[in-house]
This record gives sequence, C-alpha cells and structure tokens, in this order.
Amino acid sequence: MKRGSWNTRFGFYLAAIGSACGLGNLWRFPYVVGENGGGAFVLLYVFFALLVGMPLLIGELILGKSTRRSVLSASIELSAMNQRKYYWIGRLSVLMSLVVLSYYAVISGWVLHFSTQFLSGLFHPEVLVEKGRLDHLLSNGWLQVGLSSVHLLLAIVVVLKGVQEGLERWITAMMPIFAVLLVLLVIKSLSLDAAGEALRFLFYPDFSKLQLSSPLHAIGHVCFTLSVGFGTMVTFGSYLKDSDHIPTAGFRVTVVDTLLSLFAGLLLFPIVLQASNIPLTDPGLLFEALPRFLSQTPGGVLFGFMFFICLYLAALGASIGLLEVIVSNLVDRTKMSRTWAAWICGVAALVIGVVPALSSTFFNGVRFQGKALLEILDGLLINLFLPLIAVGVAWVISSGLSSKEKERLFVQTEKIESVALYPHWKWMLKWGIPFIVGIALILQIIDLI
Ligand code: PHE
Repeated sequence: MKRGSWNTRFGFYLAAIGSACGLGNLWRFPYVVGENGGGAFVLLYVFFALLVGMPLLIGELILGKSTRRSVLSASIELSAMNQRKYYWIGRLSVLMSLVVLSYYAVISGWVLHFSTQFLSGLFHPEVLVEKGRLDHLLSNGWLQVGLSSVHLLLAIVVVLKGVQEGLERWITAMMPIFAVLLVLLVIKSLSLDAAGEALRFLFYPDFSKLQLSSPLHAIGHVCFTLSVGFGTMVTFGSYLKDSDHIPTAGFRVTVVDTLLSLFAGLLLFPIVLQASNIPLTDPGLLFEALPRFLSQTPGGVLFGFMFFICLYLAALGASIGLLEVIVSNLVDRTKMSRTWAAWICGVAALVIGVVPALSSTFFNGVRFQGKALLEILDGLLINLFLPLIAVGVAWVISSGLSSKEKERLFVQTEKIESVALYPHWKWMLKWGIPFIVGIALILQIIDLI
C-alpha cells in the first residue's frame, strides 16, 4: 500500500508541533509544577526534556521513517526479524493512546465549554458569572460527556480526511494566531503585582521542595507533552520524506514545546498568585484562574473567547495525533477501511471517557488520597506507565533497528553536529534512559513506602 507523505516539510513540522503542543503544556504543566513545588521541578523538566524526551522523540521518528509503518506493525515486523517480543511495546503504546484520548477528550470538552461561554459572554456578560466557572461544569457530568462527544466527532472528521488535507490545513491556520494571543496574555500577566513572586516560584530552584516522586513525574510529563511513548511520532515519522533530517526536526519540536510550557507558566502563575485563593496543586488550575481573571479584565471577554478557541484548536490538533495513531495502526493491521477504523476508535474513546467525565459526579465517591478518578487515571498513566513504555520504546529502537540503519537516518555528513551527537544519542537510548527511569522509579517506590 502506498503511504501518504507530507506535502511540505512545513506540513510535518506543523503536525508534529501540533501534536506536541496542547493541553499538556497549558493545562497539565502548570498544575504539575504547582504539585512539585515550582522552580526546581521546572529545571528537572527542562533537563529531562533534553536528555530523555528529545532522544526518544528522534528515535520514534526514525523508527517510523525506517519501517514506514505505524508503531504496532513496526514492532511486529522487528519482532519477527530479531526474534524478540517487541510487539508488546507496540500494543501498549496504542492502548495508551486510546485511554489517554478518552480523558483528553474530556478536558478538551472543558475548553470547548469555556469557548462557548466566552462567546455568549460577549453578548450577555452575566452568563460568564453564572456558568463560566469550573464548578458549574464539574457538577454536570453529562454535559462533560456531551462536550467530549462533540470533540471526538470533530477529531474523527479531521482524521477521515487523510494526512495531507486533514492535518496540515487545520493546524496551519491556528498556530500564528495562538502565538500572538499567548504573547499578549503573558505581557498582561507579567504586569500584575504578583509577577515577581511568580517568576521566583517558577525559576528559582528550591530543591527542598522536590519530592521523591518528582523525577518520575517530570519524566512522565516530558513524554506526555512531547507525545512520545504513544506511537504518534512513529506514525508521523513514517510519512516523512527522505530529504528531511530527523534529529533537527526532533530538536526543534522539543524546543518549541518546552518554550510553550514555560510560557504557559509565565501566563498562569502571576494570575493564580494574584488571586491567592486557588491552590496551586489543583488540576483545574488553568480553568479556575484564567476565566475568572479574563472576565474581570476590560476587553478580557473577547480575549478569553479567542484564547479558548485557539486552545481548543491546539487540543484538537493533539487529539488528532492520538486518534491518528490508533486509526493508522488499525488500518495497517486489519486492512479495515480508514472510515470504519476512525469511527470505531472514536466511539471506543467516547465510551471509555464516560468514566473520567463522570468522575466528579456519579463516581465522586471513588477517591484515592482525595483525588478524583480523572486525576487518578491521569496520574497512573502519565506518571507511571508512560515512563515504563518509554523505556520499552528505547529498547525497541536501540536493539531492533540495525546500527547501520540508525546511522543512515541520524547522520548527515554536512551537519557535523549530527556526526558528533550520534554515539551519544545511541548511548542514551541503550543505557541512559533505562538508567534514569530506573532511578526515578526506585525513588517513587521509596516515596510510596
Ligand atoms: N503532547 C500532547 C499535549 O501536550 C498530548 C499528546 C500525547 C498528543 C500523545 C498526542 C499524543 O497536549
């Protein structure tokens, strides 16, 4: 079967950055930083993004480019060639994508809700006071189910249009607008009185605030935000053209994504600290603080509307990445039509997503250490399983692909840095990443005991 490829190199960047940048940066990053005490965790996060996330991201792209397959088919093919059980990693990545998509759709539904509330707030400001709050949404589980269905429906429609038209067009349109809005909001936020305190919180590393579980949480979040361990980047790599230099692409995606997270911190923490009554560890941090702030700022309602629409498109871009992995794997494995595959996966995500969507209503009683089901699910998957899958992916790439093949795709002689970095990259995948995750896991276990 002929595989589609990106129309332009720009198209690949847009899709890869579109998949990496999303709720992970704006929703998840700030509250994880809040939970882990600020600056020292931010430092850890940047460190692991470069040391763990980027090598894995490059590895996944290379795996896709080399096998021209999605993660499941790629791992099955390599299993047969090497007589090893790599296919487990492929299966786990796809399963991970499905479950993460199911609750990612719920949070995307929250964003959709705030977009519509700000839109109606433009005409009827009283609506925002009444309904533009997170508690209103949290107390209405079925509204969340409805919103996440709308979201998944949109994602299915985009995925059905295929790689070129579907992904490229959507993401191209929204990125520049989002960038401008973010910059303006950051400027506004940094003009608040609490800005100094926020900068200190974010960038002054107080290592005593770190917990034993923080390293594993940082690694998990890095993998989540860079979309590695899900097979997404394997699929995207399989659509790459021969002329593209993968390590350069991996580096750029990592830098853009990391900067976006830091920007999100700069945007949110002055607002949160100014308001002073929102706990920094609240998973709803973004949705608690920003709408309230914007609805009280002159001109903020229009801004809020544009911001949430852009954030929604970012969430859609990321969800498309997730859905695309599951669909492309299903199509590769079963030869099912793309249309059927997209509907089956979308509906499966919707059904699984009912549980997290009802986590603050119907399942409100199910709590662990005060955390609701959605938070427990997110914590288990991202903080624990994802780093483990990441080690598996590193193993598949380092032992499943021949050195010659890896070198062919990594090294371009006219880029001397790629020649110099190649042995380090290989070493990180083989020894560095398993070692780092191993230590982080041991610290987490000690913390639990
Ligand atoms: N990286 C995305 C984000 O930060 C989430 C995501 C994970 C998207 C895996 C696709 C695949 O929001």
